[in-house]
This record gives sequence, structure tokens and C-alpha cells, in this order.
Amino acid sequence: MSRPQRPQRGPALREWVPDGIDVTTPTVARVYDYALGGFHNFVVDRELAEQAGRIWPDFTQAAHEHRAFLGRVVQWLLGRGIRQFLDIGSGLPGLGGVRELLQLTAHRTRAVHVDLDPVVVAHSQLVHGMPGVRVIRGDLRDPQTILCHPAVAEVLDFASPVAVVVTGVLHFVADEDDPAGILQQFADATVTGSYFVLSHAAALAGDAARLELVRQLFDRTPTPMHCRTPEQIARFLDGWDLLDPGLVPVTAWHPDPDDEDVPAQPALLAAVARKPPLRPGGRHGDGPGEGLRGEGRSRPRLVRGPRDRVRAAGRDRRPDAAILPADGQQTSALVYRDQRVIGVLDRP
Ligand SMILES: C[S@@+](CC[C@H](N)C(=O)[O-])C[C@H]1O[C@@H](n2cnc3c(N)ncnc32)[C@H](O)[C@@H]1O
Repeated sequence: MSRPQRPQRGPALREWVPDGIDVTTPTVARVYDYALGGFHNFVVDRELAEQAGRIWPDFTQAAHEHRAFLGRVVQWLLGRGIRQFLDIGSGLPGLGGVRELLQLTAHRTRAVHVDLDPVVVAHSQLVHGMPGVRVIRGDLRDPQTILCHPAVAEVLDFASPVAVVVTGVLHFVADEDDPAGILQQFADATVTGSYFVLSHAAALAGDAARLELVRQLFDRTPTPMHCRTPEQIARFLDGWDLLDPGLVPVTAWHPDPDDEDVPAQPALLAAVARKPPLRPGGRHGDGPGEGLRGEGRSRPRLVRGPRDRVRAAGRDRRPDAAILPADGQQTSALVYRDQRVIGVLDRP
């Protein structure tokens, strides 16, 4: 896949920097933009990116590979009939983000792009006045404000599948902010057949010291970085059906056959998952838009199964997180965890 090129000329600063922006503090959106070859960045952003590149020479390459992954995943989702996208932490426009990728498609898609950084929002709104597309300022850490935003209600129909895209952003959410709980709220808002796209910076044993230095650089930004282990990242996919090839380096997610020589990027992991079929017990997402109304969260009852396994399920924070199958007619379903049947659930 070809990499986006740095544009030859950008607009004058005054045309795209909203009033009141602090140009002396770097932000991740602008650092990323610089790494990708964009022009929506300031000296402080470029300095941070250059420093990161000196510590971790793959910094720029990793940003490009991340965007190449995004390109593949958006095509893949379109190929599966997905036409609605909730893109959170969307980044600056112009260099292969979800917005640009959707613009290139012949399909009629609807999308809401959300970002915390006012420069991203201001510039995106400037260049994307398209029907069916909204760019809003929002904070991933405040899911209900995003889900209840008028632009989201106007553009996205949560009675049909939606792709929730959370790429390159969850590692800017601290454990204290409960990233798993945040994601659960988005999951609850979607119906069966929706998709969840995640990518996340991974703390790896081999490179831990260098990555830690890079991570520390982001303490200068308003959104410090939090690398996590692959096991911690995998837990964010609980309750979804993880699809092939699983949680893998971005470069290994359905790689383009022409990209044989691309160096692996094990510090950036990615996964795509699908919302499993109907769950018993009136859980969120069982029916059109139920998650948004926040009703009917009754916990299913485990009635059969080896006692130790059922107990294990009972201790779990969300024992009903991975229930298969079912169609609405079935009265019981197997309860799975870690690919194992841990009990049988009867519909209350
Ligand atoms: C590395 S960029 C990723 C851009 C794009 N999602 C991609 O995958 O290429 C991270 C983006 O997340 C945004 N961001 C960081 N923390 C956020 C938060 N709490 N809520 C919403 N956006 C956030 C940043 O402003 C930045 O634009």
C-alpha cells in the first residue's frame, strides 16, 4: 500500500489555527501529523517527534504502518457491508485517516469523527463539510457525552451495525479512567454485527526501556501515554468476538501481499472484533438502540455447568461477556470464557 506523502504546501497558519490554541505545548495529534509528513504542527510538536525518532528510530515508520493498517481495516469493513463509523480520536485530516479513506469510497457512508484536540476539530470542520459526516469535539473518557451528542444521533443509526474505531488513542487513557468500562459503554450502544477496531501501544519486554523513554516524552502533552501489555490490551476485547488474525502487530493485520518487506511493528498491536449474536437477559445491545437508552441490564442466571467453572464465572466481573450463540428463540446458551465452555445459561 502506498504511503501518504507530505503535502507540498500547507495553508497559512492563521487559516487553520483556532484562536486560543497554545502553540507552546505539543499535542499527540500534531506530533502524529508530523510523523506522517503533515504540516499541521508547530515547533514543539516537531521537536518531540524528532526526539522520539532519535530514541526509537522506528517512530515515523510505525506511524505510517499504523495508517496503512487503518487503510486496510476500513476497506475490510466496507467489504463486509459496514457503512457507519464512529471514529474516536480521529486525528488531523489529510493523511490517510478514516475520514479521508471514507471520502475515497464509492459507497454512501455515514461517519462521526471525534477528537479531543480543538485543532483537529477546527481543521477537520474546515475541510469536511460533507453530508453524512460530522466532526465533533469529544473526549473518549466521557462516552455518554459522545453517544448522546446531537451530531451522533443525527448521523448514526444505532439500530444497524456501526464500526466503533478506537485506533491509536486508548493508550492516552489512564487506568484510573477505566478504559474497559469506557469501551463497554460503546459496546452496549451497538447492535449485533457491529465492529470494534482497536489499536494500542504495547509495552514489550525486549524494547521496554526505549519505549518507556518515548512514553515519557508524551508527559509534555495534555494526554500522557500509557503503554500496556498484550494481555492487558486483549482484555479490552472482552465481550466481542475477536476476528482473525487476532490481536497482532498492525503490520500483521491482513497485510497487503505487496508489502512483503515491511518491518514488523510489535509495539503497536491491533485487532478487529465483532459484536456477538443476541444475548439473553435483556442486555444492552440486544435490540435496536437499547444501549443508548440504558435500560434492562439484568444479569443472566447460570443454572448448569461444572460447579468450579460456574463459580469461576460468578467471580468474573462480567460472567456473561462471551455468550454464544444464539438466535432469539433459544432458551439456553453456552457460556464461554477463554474459548472454554464454563456453563449453561437459561434465559430468565
Ligand atoms: C495517534 S492519533 C490517532 C489518529 C487516528 N485514530 C489513527 O488511528 O490514525 C491520536 C488522536 O487521539 C486524540 N485523543 C487523545 N486523547 C483523546 C481523548 N481522550 N478523547 C478523544 N480523542 C483523544 C488525539 O488528539 C489524536 O488526534
